[in-house]
Amino acid sequence: MSYKVTIQPSGNSFTTEENETILAAAMRSGYMLPYGCRNGACAACKGKIIEGTVDHGNPQSSALVDFEKRDGLTLFCQATPLTDLIIEAREIETTGDIEVRRLPSRVQSIFRVSDDIVILKLKLPANERFQFFAGQYIDVLLRGGKRRSYSMGNPPHEAEYIELHVRNMANGAFTTQVFETLKEKDILRFEGPLGTFFLREETEKPIIFVASGTGFAPIKSIIEHSFEKGIDRPMVLYWGGRRPQDLYMSDLANQWAKDHQNFSFIPVISDGEPEDKWEGRMGMVHIAAMEDFPDMTDHEAYSCGVPAMVEAAHKDFTEQCGLPQDSFFSDAFTPSVDPKP
Ligand code: FES
Repeated sequence: MSYKVTIQPSGNSFTTEENETILAAAMRSGYMLPYGCRNGACAACKGKIIEGTVDHGNPQSSALVDFEKRDGLTLFCQATPLTDLIIEAREIETTGDIEVRRLPSRVQSIFRVSDDIVILKLKLPANERFQFFAGQYIDVLLRGGKRRSYSMGNPPHEAEYIELHVRNMANGAFTTQVFETLKEKDILRFEGPLGTFFLREETEKPIIFVASGTGFAPIKSIIEHSFEKGIDRPMVLYWGGRRPQDLYMSDLANQWAKDHQNFSFIPVISDGEPEDKWEGRMGMVHIAAMEDFPDMTDHEAYSCGVPAMVEAAHKDFTEQCGLPQDSFFSDAFTPSVDPKP
């Protein structure tokens, strides 16, 4: 059965098909609502049902708790309508529609930048131009219907290849392949671009970037895109890792700070060892940002990395530093959900 969904405050509406989630139907109809993982884990798609009822689907318990359901909240990537609906959601205006496609790519290079991080460069077929917004991700398509999400680390104007930052995970379906068997010239298939973690360009607000580990990748793409476009908003990057070697491209970030007077870089280490001889900032990366910006009322924040850091940044920035809810953008590394065997 199909149902009509009306988005407030825009008044735009679309129709869902049988068993189609609200997010999938909105995207099929050309409306972009915020989303990240599409598997009920990251909460980026959380929104309100103003009128009507839904089946909440299978949200992970940390992403949608019971009292939120009672308050009318749901995850649009999981929820299917049981009646016509009026929903409240922040629609994302983009400067153009970008089609989500499935494409083959060839491994151009595999470069190990630290003990457990590899930068993969994938070459696209000749004559293919892969368009995306800086900050978006792709799903690498694996055997058995599995998929793994990685953000583009390159900016969109360098579109002849795709750069992925891959951290070695114990028994990871894709990372084991990358670290053990993948070779140059191998073919990988992917789907993308995906996600709504990209730079909002309709404002002049200063930007606070907060990354942990390979959460640097989409932020690198956004920052390089900003430099290319001559965006002169003040930007500061807080990049956190356990030890200095986790900040695997800190030389590049330091060079950005030398070359661009609107950009500064604050590396933050949480578990340095004496042999690291670390003399910089220590502790939790989002706390370092709060120490420097106790008032974030007029800022935007972009955060990417492990879910605990992203959630803490969201909570603390909005509750303690006055960051408006609609000025926080995030991409949390939630675990992928594999199809049932
Ligand atoms: S929980 Fe819906 S997009 Fe992540």
